[in-house]
Amino acid sequence: MNTQSSESLEKIRQQFENSPYPRTPLDESPKNDKNFNQLFLHNLVTPYYLRNQQVIQTEGKVILDAGCGSGYKSLVLAEANPGAKIVGIDLSEQSVKLAQERLRHHGFGDNTEFHTLLIEDLPKLGLEFDYINCDEVLYLLPDPAAGLASLKSVLKPTGILRSNLHNYLQRQGYFRAQEVFRLMGLTEDNPGELEVGLVVETMKALKDRVQLRAIAWRPDYEENEQTILMNFLLQSDKGYGIPELFGALRTADLEFIAMVNWRHWELNDLFKDAEDLPAFLALSLPEASIEDRLHLFNLMHPIHRLIDFWCGHPEHATPAQPVSAWSEKDWFNARVHLHPQLRQPKVKETLIRCANEQKPFEISQYIPIPVTAPVFAESDIAACCLLPLWEGSQPVADLVERWLKVRPYNLITLEPTSKATAFEQVRQLLSKLEVFLYILAEPMS
Ligand SMILES: C[S@@+](CC[C@H](N)C(=O)[O-])C[C@H]1O[C@@H](n2cnc3c(N)ncnc32)[C@H](O)[C@@H]1O
Repeated sequence: MNTQSSESLEKIRQQFENSPYPRTPLDESPKNDKNFNQLFLHNLVTPYYLRNQQVIQTEGKVILDAGCGSGYKSLVLAEANPGAKIVGIDLSEQSVKLAQERLRHHGFGDNTEFHTLLIEDLPKLGLEFDYINCDEVLYLLPDPAAGLASLKSVLKPTGILRSNLHNYLQRQGYFRAQEVFRLMGLTEDNPGELEVGLVVETMKALKDRVQLRAIAWRPDYEENEQTILMNFLLQSDKGYGIPELFGALRTADLEFIAMVNWRHWELNDLFKDAEDLPAFLALSLPEASIEDRLHLFNLMHPIHRLIDFWCGHPEHATPAQPVSAWSEKDWFNARVHLHPQLRQPKVKETLIRCANEQKPFEISQYIPIPVTAPVFAESDIAACCLLPLWEGSQPVADLVERWLKVRPYNLITLEPTSKATAFEQVRQLLSKLEVFLYILAEPMS
C-alpha cells in the first residue's frame, strides 16, 4: 500500500496520543444505554444475516477493532458478541493503554488483546478475523483503498468488514473551517487547548449570518474541546462520496453488503409519494444499481455524516431467496429467532406487561435504528409468538399451533379459527418484524 508520509502519520499519532478518542468515561457501558442501537449494529449476527440470511453464533469468533482509540467500541463489540475474542490495534500507545484498561474494567480482560500497531502492519499479527470494525479511521488514511486492502488481507474468507468514510457533502462546513484554521497556522503543531480557544474565539466573532458560522457552528461546541479537535482541527481528515467508496471497494476487490444504517438510505423515502414517482424515475429506478441509488440519495439528501458500510470478500453472499419473496410454504417450513440484542429481560418484561394490559407492544423502542417510524405489534399475538423465542429459535409451524390454542375461535363470528387463518396472522407479524431484523428467519434444513 502507499506508505503514508512519516510526517502526516506522526501528526495523527501525536493528535490521538494527546487526546485519545473518545473521552467516554471508563465506567460507562453500552448496556446502560436507553436503547440497544450500538449493540445491535456491533453484533456480528446483524451483518451476517443481512448478507447470508443465516444466524451465526458469536462464541469463538475473532474480532478486530482496527484503530480502536480509547476502546469504547471495543467494549461494545465485546458486550454485543458473547464468547468472541476481541483484538484491538491503534497507532497511539496511549489509546491502546486506555482501551486495555477499559476492557479489563468491564471484565473482558481474559479474552482480549491490544497492540500498538499500524493498520498497514496488520499482517504482522499473524491472525485472521471473522469480523473487523474500522470505525472513524479510514478517512484519516492517505488512500482508503489501500487501507481496505490491508484490512482485507487479515479478513477470513467468510468474514465481514465494517468501516466508514466522512461524507464530503454533509461535512462541507467542517472541511472549510479546517482550511481556515490551517491557513491561520493552528494545525502546524499538535493542536491543544490554546488552538481550541482560538477556534472558539474566531467562530464566535463571526456574524451569525456568515455562512461558515451558520453551517459549522453550534453554541454548545464552546464547552466541548473534543468536538473542536475532532471537527475543526482534525489532522488528515478527508471527505468522500458514494462513487469514491465504490471505487475504493473495487480497487480492494471487496464486495459491498449494505449501509450500516441501511433503512435510512432508501431513495424512495425522499419522495412525497413513493407509489407515484415521476414517470422517468418510476421506470429507471428499479433498474438502477445500488451504487447509483445511494449516490442519488446522497446528492439529494446528504444527512449522514458517515458513509458507513459493511463489505466482505466477493462471492460470499449465500444466494438465498429474500424473505420478502418467500412463499407461504417457505414460511411454513422456516425457523425464527429473536435478534439476540432483543433477548433481554427488560424487553420480555415489557412484552408481558403489554399483554396483561392489552396494550400494543412498541418493539422499536429497544432498537430504533432500523426504523423510520415506531413499530408496534398487537400484544396478544406478539406475546404468543415471541415469548418462546427467549428460550431459543422456534419452527414457524409450532408458533402457528400455539396461536391456534390462544385464539381457537374468531372473536366476531365465533367460528373455529382455521389453521390457514392462524398461519396467515403469524406470518404477517413475523414478516413485518423481519424487515427490521427484530426477528430472523431461516429455512429449516
Ligand atoms: C477518530 S479515532 C476513532 C477511535 C475508535 N475507532 C472509535 O470510533 O471510537 C481514530 C483512531 O485511529 C487511529 N489511527 C489513525 N491512523 C491509524 C493507522 N494508520 N493505523 C492504526 N491506527 C490509526 C488513531 O490513533 C485514533 O485512535
